[in-house]
Amino acid sequence: MHSYLDHNAGTPIRPAVREAIARFLREEHGNPSSVHQSGQRARRMLEEARERVARLVGAPVRTIVFTSGGTESNNLATFGAASAAGGRRKIVSSSIEHSSVLAPLAELERRGFEVVRVPPDHDGRIDPADVLEELDENTALVTLGLANAEVGTTQDLAPIAAAVAHFAGSRRCSAATPNPASTPIATSVISPKRTAPRIPLSSGNTR
Ligand SMILES: Cc1ncc(COP(=O)(O)O)c(C=O)c1O
Repeated sequence: MHSYLDHNAGTPIRPAVREAIARFLREEHGNPSSVHQSGQRARRMLEEARERVARLVGAPVRTIVFTSGGTESNNLATFGAASAAGGRRKIVSSSIEHSSVLAPLAELERRGFEVVRVPPDHDGRIDPADVLEELDENTALVTLGLANAEVGTTQDLAPIAAAVAHFAGSRRCSAATPNPASTPIATSVISPKRTAPRIPLSSGNTR
């Protein structure tokens, strides 16, 4: 019998999602940037998907950017936030982030940013107080994974997101890639000012 014990790194997708992807690959081939009918149909489907994701996480539609995966997303978010930071030069993160976050942070450090990597406790949890202590007017970005990719611990991001909101212009980056603990992504975590309900990304969530 085969046992698969690495759902942190990769896990089967829901049959309904698999079917939707297969249907699209079977029936559609248009480039959404094309002006002809097939292209425009693909464009409509793309925009509908964007709207649905925006609703799911309670974010403005125009802020949803589709990428090839987690590494590209984290690079885009990290370098993007740094380049939009104006004069702010400090980045607060943790020492247990995925390499797709740690590598861009190391590069930004080489470019002159101050990067603070908060250490976890012995259970793999980041104490929000340790992060809050580091926040100041010079902070350009706070980047912390909601669920750790190796050990699956989830972080208490809500108080951090609320504190970051006080530093106008600071960016929050909340990673949801593979989300091993099936933690619901709460809009209060991503944007504490929103009032949309907590929407589980997975039916298996327990919190
Ligand atoms: C938290 C986290 N970020 C980023 C990635 C990288 O994602 P991808 O393989 O889609 O580039 C992973 C992959 O497991 C991950 O767990």
